[in-house]
Amino acid sequence: MNSQPLSEFRRRDVLRLAGSAAAVLALAASPLAALAQTAPGGATLKIATIGAGREGGALGTLFAKAGHPVMFSSRHPEELKDLVASAGPSAKAGTVADAVAFADVVLLVVPYGAVEQIGKDYGPALAGKALVMDVSNPTARSGEEIVKWVEQQGGAGLATAKLLPGAHLVRAFNAIGYAKLPELAHRQGDPVGVPIAGDDPNAVAIASRLIKEIGFEPVMVGGLAMGKYLNVGTPLAGIHTPDEIRQIAATLK
Ligand SMILES: NC(=O)c1ccc[n+]([C@@H]2O[C@H](COP(=O)([O-])OP(=O)(O)OC[C@H]3O[C@@H](n4cnc5c(N)ncnc54)[C@H](OP(=O)(O)O)[C@@H]3O)[C@@H](O)[C@H]2O)c1
Repeated sequence: MNSQPLSEFRRRDVLRLAGSAAAVLALAASPLAALAQTAPGGATLKIATIGAGREGGALGTLFAKAGHPVMFSSRHPEELKDLVASAGPSAKAGTVADAVAFADVVLLVVPYGAVEQIGKDYGPALAGKALVMDVSNPTARSGEEIVKWVEQQGGAGLATAKLLPGAHLVRAFNAIGYAKLPELAHRQGDPVGVPIAGDDPNAVAIASRLIKEIGFEPVMVGGLAMGKYLNVGTPLAGIHTPDEIRQIAATLK
């Protein structure tokens, strides 16, 4: 894996690296590289959601329906029976500790105020996962203090990295509403683009693979520092084609 953190690269360098031979070589050398490849016939990944509400439930369901073993988790897993039943036979529910122990890949889909405690409780275990997909956003619901702290860290991507030190983070799906996910997945014609931001090439590759498998098109917009542009209320939020995302991303810095 590339030893220089991608956050030290300029955004254009990140975009260039994503398609370069260096990135391919770095990825191939990683022990986690196999997770990034879609094998014909489907090598599945064990996916856990921390948070199984509106967005975590919808995303986890798409991954379960794509054939991946999924464990939904929250502080009240006994309340997730209906979700598990509707997500199908590859889904189950557990405590957050169960889910962290189970997963190759974790989707973090909680109110942003919960991320600090999750980092304290599970930080080292989460740092050992190939990918933590950070879907969580600091919003008005998180409270003014948290929103301000996140801004001071340089936005949600860098802030989550502080709260989950060492985690292989990729921000994704942050501003695509839960209610639309099922109908947007595998859309006819142009796929819906999912802007993603991350510093770790292997985690980005795994996230890209998973996003494609549920019928969206990942579009890398840069390192975690760009993660702040994926929130609700920014130009990248909402439903865009991959080309539209590239055009909007080019106007951001
Ligand atoms: N709703 C959307 O359309 C949407 C779209 C994109 C991104 N997001 C982001 O996704 C996150 C979740 O939003 P949501 O709308 O899905 O919220 P939600 O429906 O209220 O679900 C939140 C989930 O997080 C769990 N949770 C809360 N605190 C927790 C903790 N300390 N440890 C473990 N689990 C915890 C809750 O379960 P328990 O209370 O039982 O633990 C619940 O399952 C937010 O950051 C939001 O900005 C939402």
